[in-house]
Amino acid sequence: MSTHVQSRLSTARMTVHGRIVNASNHTMLVELDADDGGVLAVYKPRDGERPLWDFPFGSLHRREVAAFAVSDYLGWGLVPPTVLRDGPLGPGSVQLFIDHDPRRHYFVLVGEQQHDSQLMRMAVFDLLLNNADRKGSHVLLDAEGHVWGCDHGLTFHTEPKLRTVIWEFGGTALPPSWSEDLVRLAHDVGADMAPMRLRLLDLLDAEEVAALGARAAGMARLASLPDLAEDERPYPWPPV
Ligand SMILES: Nc1ncnc2c1ncn2[C@@H]1O[C@H](COP(=O)(O)OP(=O)(O)O)[C@@H](O)[C@H]1O
Ligand SMILES: [Mg+2]
Repeated sequence: MSTHVQSRLSTARMTVHGRIVNASNHTMLVELDADDGGVLAVYKPRDGERPLWDFPFGSLHRREVAAFAVSDYLGWGLVPPTVLRDGPLGPGSVQLFIDHDPRRHYFVLVGEQQHDSQLMRMAVFDLLLNNADRKGSHVLLDAEGHVWGCDHGLTFHTEPKLRTVIWEFGGTALPPSWSEDLVRLAHDVGADMAPMRLRLLDLLDAEEVAALGARAAGMARLASLPDLAEDERPYPWPPV
């Protein structure tokens, strides 16, 4: 399914519907193949990225695609299919739009228990990506009960940058199958001709790819998710 969606996202004709108002960048809702059973997507053109002091200008949309590549590789299904492509405002990332109720954000879902395993996996993913911006509104529940994450532009930095709202699972044991996935990732990220390594090197700096491999190897050895003291937990601002 995902490969088919990716090829459609990559090649279909794009119509811009409008700018998403609560976004920090020039983020747009677009429709692909509008005349032919269209599909909605979120387009983030490189040239619409807000300059930041700590991330190289023009790299955020590539990080969005790299986040999808990692989620896809692990088989964790956390990031909607996301591709790099040209659009009406130039090159950018295009991500499948997930129909969801924005009132049902992280802080609501975390009180409902049935999403716990998916939310905990997102916490692991954020540590792995060194995600600097996991806000409550970047957690989306679809009609099938699947939890997706969006907004992965501030990820893969080589310096510690973690800022997330997901701190409820500290101390919980990591399922062995997740650790095995992380071992696999650490291996492939470091293996010269591994397709995953090559895919990431197209999107990130070599140092960022190496740092990802090191985090994956370190996290594969963790028995449980880190549990920080309440006053040490780095939250993004605003949290929703
Ligand atoms: N793939 C998606 N599916 C559905 N809604 C999305 C998706 N990506 C982003 N959004 C919505 O648009 C808002 C802004 O997107 P976001 O990725 O946070 O942009 P920015 O990088 O500009 O902050 C999100 O808070 C979310 O509500
Ligand atoms: Mg955002």
